[in-house]
Amino acid sequence: MKEQIEKIGQAGEAALATLATLPELEAWEIEYLGRKSELNTLLKGLRDLSPEDKKVVGPLGNSTKQKLIALFDAKKKELLEKSVDWQAEGIDITAPGRVTRVGHLNPLTRVEHEIEDIFTSMGFDIASGPEVETEHYNFDALNFPKDHPSRDMQDTFWLASTSHGGVKSDKKSTDRYLPRTHTSGVQVRYMETHKPPLRVIVPGRVFRNEATDATHEHTFYQFECLMVDVEGEVTVATFKHVAEEFFSKFFGEKVRIRLRPSFFPFTEPSFEFDISCILCDGAGCATCKQGGWIELGGAGMVNQHVLESAGYKRGVYQGFAWGFGVGRMAMMKYGINDNRLFLSGDLRFIRQF
Ligand code: DAH
Repeated sequence: MKEQIEKIGQAGEAALATLATLPELEAWEIEYLGRKSELNTLLKGLRDLSPEDKKVVGPLGNSTKQKLIALFDAKKKELLEKSVDWQAEGIDITAPGRVTRVGHLNPLTRVEHEIEDIFTSMGFDIASGPEVETEHYNFDALNFPKDHPSRDMQDTFWLASTSHGGVKSDKKSTDRYLPRTHTSGVQVRYMETHKPPLRVIVPGRVFRNEATDATHEHTFYQFECLMVDVEGEVTVATFKHVAEEFFSKFFGEKVRIRLRPSFFPFTEPSFEFDISCILCDGAGCATCKQGGWIELGGAGMVNQHVLESAGYKRGVYQGFAWGFGVGRMAMMKYGINDNRLFLSGDLRFIRQF
């Protein structure tokens, strides 16, 4: 049997060398490697051999088969290449290959995903709201007085239309529409359909009628964060803890946070918070406008008027709300010194991430 296998191997190899066409190769494959080939038939008979013979013949049979397969593959490749007339097909096989570029996530999207992962790990839900918002949710429900300056044309792109198919506005028929100036309105939308205890974040794109510079864009991305429970359960200390946990996880190091008293109609008390500049570690650079701190956003304890707008009974619940810009987080994480680069559409910038 040993000799038989060796003979088949040699015959197969010799026959293969003389082949010149693909149909011939196909016939060769059936003859030497097919299910009913001599070699396969022999190998099937292996089980009737004594254990000693099996030890010798088995490996030889397999190696012969593998050798024939390798020779077959090489011959097939050779014949396939020969079978195409590249010149007639107009294909220059000596031309250098074309590089196919793989797409990249914008760093803003990457950062958004990272932020979502961290908050999700802390038990927060993720919600969204419409980019074209009603005056009710963007301002009224958040306790902005009718004459509040941020409602005027300096900050808000008001839409000319007084109706918009995409936005539900059953609160007031006189509602005006606007590309939302912040994600805070989604606080009320979310609370209208959820009861405390709740924790939620709202990532979203917002729009302001502003002059642009290295840290301001007319179109940018924010995160709203809201945590509400019965009175006494969620305090300013809870906010500070959650914020410190979040920033430290995001930057992978202990980040310093600074709270400053401030005012927002929808929180009471209100504060703005800064984090120590990651680029210069507080020494002062262009990103932090030489101050050593980066203003990241506002926060505060949710004003009872806002809870009432959502249909909650006054004085029963308490919580914090917090909003911050994704762009600044991405700038610090990746050492980018100009906010305007993100949406510039410049592929040289995007391809770095
Ligand atoms: N909506 C504010 C802005 O866009 C940011 C903000 C401040 C959000 C205080 C909050 C908050 O939730 O409590 O400037």
